Parts: sequence; C-alpha cells; structure tokens
Amino acid sequence: MEITQAVAALTPSLIEMRRDFHRHPELAFQEVRTSAKLAAFLESLGLEVTRGIAQTGVVARLKGARPGKTVLVRADIDALPIQEASGVAYASQTPGVMHACGHDGHAAIAAHVAAVLAGFKDRLEGEVRFAFQPAEEIVAGARPMVEAGVLEGVDRVVGLHLYSLMPAGKVGVRPGPSMAAADAFTIHLQGKGAHAAMPHEGVDTVLMASQIIVALQSLVSRETDPIQTAVITIATLRAGEGAHNIIPETAELKGTLRTFDAALREKLIRRIEELSRGIALAMGGSAEVVWLPGSPAVVNDAVMVERFRQVARQVVGEEGVLEVPPVMGGDDMAEFLNRCPGVYFWLGAGDPDPSRNRPHHHPGFWIDDERALPLGVELLVRSVLDFLHD
Ligand code: NI
Repeated sequence: MEITQAVAALTPSLIEMRRDFHRHPELAFQEVRTSAKLAAFLESLGLEVTRGIAQTGVVARLKGARPGKTVLVRADIDALPIQEASGVAYASQTPGVMHACGHDGHAAIAAHVAAVLAGFKDRLEGEVRFAFQPAEEIVAGARPMVEAGVLEGVDRVVGLHLYSLMPAGKVGVRPGPSMAAADAFTIHLQGKGAHAAMPHEGVDTVLMASQIIVALQSLVSRETDPIQTAVITIATLRAGEGAHNIIPETAELKGTLRTFDAALREKLIRRIEELSRGIALAMGGSAEVVWLPGSPAVVNDAVMVERFRQVARQVVGEEGVLEVPPVMGGDDMAEFLNRCPGVYFWLGAGDPDPSRNRPHHHPGFWIDDERALPLGVELLVRSVLDFLHD
C-alpha cells in the first residue's frame, strides 16, 4: 500500500523529531524553538507557512492540484511544568519542564502527515491546513488561533490525542460529547477578623467557607438532572496564617467545574455564584466569584466519527477501534470542533501490560513512540484523504 510505505519511509524522521521536541520542551506561549523547527520543516516540504499565529502558533497550507474541500489538522505543541522522571534516554534537558502529555508526539505526527500528503500533492483534491497550536495546557491557545481566522474556509477538522493508558495499536473514539468543558473559579470571601475567643466580634470566613463548600455539593446532587454529568471540586481552601487563636478576615476557595452540556454549564456557573454570595451575605460577609473560563466541551460530529471509524478499521482492524467513554478532562480542541464538524480521537500509546504505563501529567509519563506515532500519521493521512471528499 502506497500510504503505508510512505509512512514507513518517514518513520525515522518522525521519531527523531518527536524525541528532539521531548528533549527540548517549552511551556505555553514559549514554544519558540518548537514552532521555528516546525515552520522550517513545513517550508522545506513546499507548504505555505505562516508563523506567529496566537504568538507561537504555526499554520501551514497544502493546496492540492484540484479543487475539493478544506480539511484542518490540529496539533498542540506545549509542555508542562513537571520535572521529568521517566528514565528515557531522550529525557528533557530543561529542568522543571517536560512533555508529560504527548504534545511532542502530536506535533511530530502532524508535521509528518504534511510530509506524506506533500508527496501526493499532484493528486490531492482540495486544501489541507495544519494548525500547530500553542498553550493547550493552559487552555489559551486555540481561541486566539480561531480568532486569527485559522478556520476560514475550513469544512472539517481532525486531530488526535495520544493516550498512555491505552495500548499502542488501539484507537478510541466516540460520537458526541467526548471531553468536558473545564472552567476554573476562585471565590474570595470577606469577613471580619477577631480574637478566636471572641467570635461574636467578628465575621468568621472559615465557617463561611465551610458552609459554601458543603452547599456547593448540592448543585450536582440536587440541581443537576441525574442523567447529565457534572463535577464541582474545591481544590484549594486558604484562610488564616497558621494561628490557633485568630479568626481570619478573608478566605479563598479555588475549584473547577466540569460539564458536557452548554445549558447546564451556564446554570451551574450562575448557581455557584448565587450560593457563594448568598451564604456569605447571610453570614454577614461577602463573596466575589472570579471565573477563568475554559473551553467548551469537545463534541465529535457523529457522521465524521462514522467515516473515521471506517478509515481506522483499515489501519488497525475491527478489534483495534474502541468506543471509549467520555472523560471529564478538558481540551481546547473544543474551540475548533465547536465551529466546524470533525473528530478528535485517542491514539493508544501505552504498553499492553498496564503496570508499565503512567498517566498523563505524571513525571514518569512515557509513550511507545515507535509503535504509536507511525499509526497516528497513517490514520490522519487516510482520514484527511477521506474528509476531502463529500
Ligand atoms: Ni494533552
């Protein structure tokens, strides 16, 4: 098969590029070396390359010889603030920074999809556009790329996420909501400081925070349709300076809201504010809720998923294509899928023995790049060729 051979020929370059990115990880909006290397590689293939989109993003266009649809391949490129402890020979050379989510692999895969397709340029119908997106880990890179017009004229989008807990050789996908909308919030509480032995002189923000935390639990258990899904977690509670005998004047809660349904998301955002402000007011204090809005839920198009599955079966066989449950993790691929039909799928990258695998964002995170990455290239190449047609 022509495509399989083309992928095999490029595999050494693919692995080398991924390991080079792994050695030199860069945090969100600091992906200067990564994007320069990607841009140079894409230019060498003859693609029309635009640098500096959304600060450190790169967009490349491969125009086919004949007309057809425009398909966008999206890959994220940033790393995480983690000290690597994977033990691999090509470990990070930057202290405290690590590709612990596989975005090094995403970038190398998409670049080599461009390399394979550039080889078939004369027979290509339509345009294939590549978006190398910065700052996925802080959910800040996709939106400015979309606002810069990256999706203009695009008919369909496709992307993948490596998955270390799924064996290499497997592919996971599902139609509809696949990853959650992830919003972060901080609740600032204002009370009145006092001596701990004279509580009636103050307004206790520790008690206020406790009441709010307990009340927030009722939003999922009592106000959310049991058939729907939501998570509200308070992850940080700060109050006081370590004293045994001072009622603190202020307190701070930080948490996350995860939802799939847009209307439920809106309702819970409103209710978190109402409960926090209402309880603080009832106790004689005040609350201010500050939101760090995340991306919407990742929602796959049902028709595109079915077409992708047909393609994937040719690459990994019937038993290699798994229907996976939705996850409460978020991904700003949602910004693309929210505006354009497409597919975001999981590419297995772990060992068949689960005890050898580490989760994403773990210091020991590793992937079987030699087995997983070439499959990722082939799956995307074949999906793009399919999606270019009606
Ligand atoms: Ni990731």
